[in-house]
Amino acid sequence: MTNYILALDQGTTSSRAILFDHAGRVHACAQGEFRQIFPQPGWVEHDASEIWDSQRSVMEQVLRESGVPASDVAAIGVTNQRETTVLWDRATGEPVTNAIVWQDRRNAAFCDQLVAEGKAELIQQKTGLVLDAYFSATKLKWMLDNIAGLRARAQRGELAFGTVDSWLIYKMSGAHLTDTSNASRTMLFNIHTLQWDTDLLALLDIPASLLPDVVPSSGIAAHTHTDLLGVRLPIAGIAGDQQAATFGQACLKPGMAKNTYGTGCFMLMNVGKRPLPSKNRLLSTVGWRLGEGANRTDYLLEGSAFIAGAAVQWMRDGLGIISHSSEVEALASSVPDTGGLVFVPAFAGLGAPYWDPYARGTLIGITRGTGKAHIARAALEGVAYQNVDVLSAMQKDAGIALSELRVDGGAARNDMLMQFQADILNVPVVRPVVTETTALGAAYLAGLAVGFWASEEEIGAQWQVGRRFEPKMAHDERLARLHKWQRAVERSRQWDE
Ligand code: G3P
Repeated sequence: MTNYILALDQGTTSSRAILFDHAGRVHACAQGEFRQIFPQPGWVEHDASEIWDSQRSVMEQVLRESGVPASDVAAIGVTNQRETTVLWDRATGEPVTNAIVWQDRRNAAFCDQLVAEGKAELIQQKTGLVLDAYFSATKLKWMLDNIAGLRARAQRGELAFGTVDSWLIYKMSGAHLTDTSNASRTMLFNIHTLQWDTDLLALLDIPASLLPDVVPSSGIAAHTHTDLLGVRLPIAGIAGDQQAATFGQACLKPGMAKNTYGTGCFMLMNVGKRPLPSKNRLLSTVGWRLGEGANRTDYLLEGSAFIAGAAVQWMRDGLGIISHSSEVEALASSVPDTGGLVFVPAFAGLGAPYWDPYARGTLIGITRGTGKAHIARAALEGVAYQNVDVLSAMQKDAGIALSELRVDGGAARNDMLMQFQADILNVPVVRPVVTETTALGAAYLAGLAVGFWASEEEIGAQWQVGRRFEPKMAHDERLARLHKWQRAVERSRQWDE
């Protein structure tokens, strides 16, 4: 019997490789960063070869440093930054241009044009997505339309498109495929039929020959080349990182939700076996499809705020009021309150439910008494306030009140932020023992497919509470604070009028 699952977590700023044991605990971890490329304001690119090199190197490193032989790995699970678009040459296996990253806004005007042409409803009905430059489709179209020769080469069948999961799996195995969760973020995938949508391909002029096969998120999808790790390993789990984190948090039943505090905040709720169209500007998305015996697809509702940990980075790198991100909790806790300061961290516009790319960061209520501790406290509170807007949209869509919110990601280690989050949501916030839930979710999806774990029940039973934060704020205070927050949000959206 083998003892480990190897999870590859390819994120926006770093690649990680983690070995998990049968108890779902981290046995070993390796992490490496790679270059962020900003060719123009609002543009964000990666070199897909650098992504692969960093992922390959941490995969080799975690095995080497832990002394675990690859033959003791039952399967590989892959999870990834979503929507980021890679285009490569089928003959050479090399990228033909830089990958366009999910944060890239270069197609915002094109999306505005599609909205003006009345296409938003069709796109939302088929894909569950709000028409936005966030998703892969307009990034791929931009490559074909703007880089000389690529459209002709695509039409001749010489090129392959994929999100980052596809790219890594292609490099590891030669197979050209993606899973349903990643496909659902391209804006080309019909989440009802679980197939590429020919109407959307025609609307955006994307040749079908570019597209990967779509496979379940849990199931043996391919095997690694023997020369990669010395043995052929099954790649048996694939999911976008936020879906994987939802699975890793064992949000396996409708009504269960998690929030990941990374660069941004990603809140996802399980809504069951059918997509739930949002009436409140949230995304309706595939969670995961379990293959083999189960043949079941679970759907999620998602709301994202683009800035969370990035606000702390800004206080460190932009303002210089802290030297390390970990100092923010002590600084913010050194004052009893923000002294009336409200901070809307709309640095990159506002995400769900506003989808306002033109909003900007706003700090309001400054007085002579305002100091850096008040700013730090207001920034943390701002991160938490954004989630109230997302959660209330989610509860309206789902027609249920959330009984608890499971949390993970770097900033979820911040006790002050988590207590304030519970207070302002008026919902208990629960942090699990294992907070590496993204990689764990990919490991679970892979492990289920190869019998490393027997069932979803076994996985659900492994999830353990690390700390629970109960709401303590008085009702009237909460309402008064939310009222102030809403007024600050309005100002962040009208700052130059
Ligand atoms: O949709 C984007 C999301 O998948 C990025 O996640 O963890 O790389 O910031 P992360």
